[in-house]
Amino acid sequence: MSAVPILSAQGLSKSFGAVRVIHEISFEVWPGEVLGVLGPNGAGKTTLFNLISGDVAVDGGNLRFQGEALKGGEPPFKRCRRGIGRTYQVPRPYSGMTTFENLLVAAMFGGMQSERVANDRCAAILDDCGLGDKANQLAGSLTLLDRKRLELARALASGPKLLLLDEIAGGLTDE
Ligand SMILES: Nc1ncnc2c1ncn2[C@@H]1O[C@H](COP(=O)(O)OP(=O)(O)OP(=O)(O)O)[C@@H](O)[C@H]1O
Ligand SMILES: [Mg+2]
Repeated sequence: MSAVPILSAQGLSKSFGAVRVIHEISFEVWPGEVLGVLGPNGAGKTTLFNLISGDVAVDGGNLRFQGEALKGGEPPFKRCRRGIGRTYQVPRPYSGMTTFENLLVAAMFGGMQSERVANDRCAAILDDCGLGDKANQLAGSLTLLDRKRLELARALASGPKLLLLDEIAGGLTDE
């Protein structure tokens, strides 16, 4: 096992106005580990992910990724290029692009892969995620289930070392 956690948080805090959402949270995630974050609506799960991905700025505390400090102000795409991939609770596809093009953006811009490499990888990921027959469909026309699949596929296409799944099955039926 690696000598450093893939992710560590020390005393992480975040408030929105007077509302303290994340209060001095500390934890570690090790390579190969799956960590679940539980809490009722409004507990701050998405906010925690937003702090890690850089979508929202940290108020206090430290985050380290593979032993290196994640500095404040680093935009999400740079964190993605380091290997932090995420999905959004409310899917955010590029609606006017096809499903396959959505993955290519993640692989080439987010994952810095060449077009040749990205083409093959994205095709395999689309199949794995059950979207192989929707490659050329506009993402904006996908059902909620397929948008959730696309969130996962797109995050995988960026080649993440750390994958953050925010309620990937939320809003779906058991089936
Ligand atoms: N950008 C923001 N500005 C102001 N308040 C925010 C912002 N983002 C989240 N909040 C507030 O922070 C609190 C935590 O929200 P968050 O979305 O992180 O919770 P959650 O645990 O993901 O909830 P859910 O289970 O409903 O997804 C809520 O009170 C929410 O209204
Ligand atoms: Mg949430």
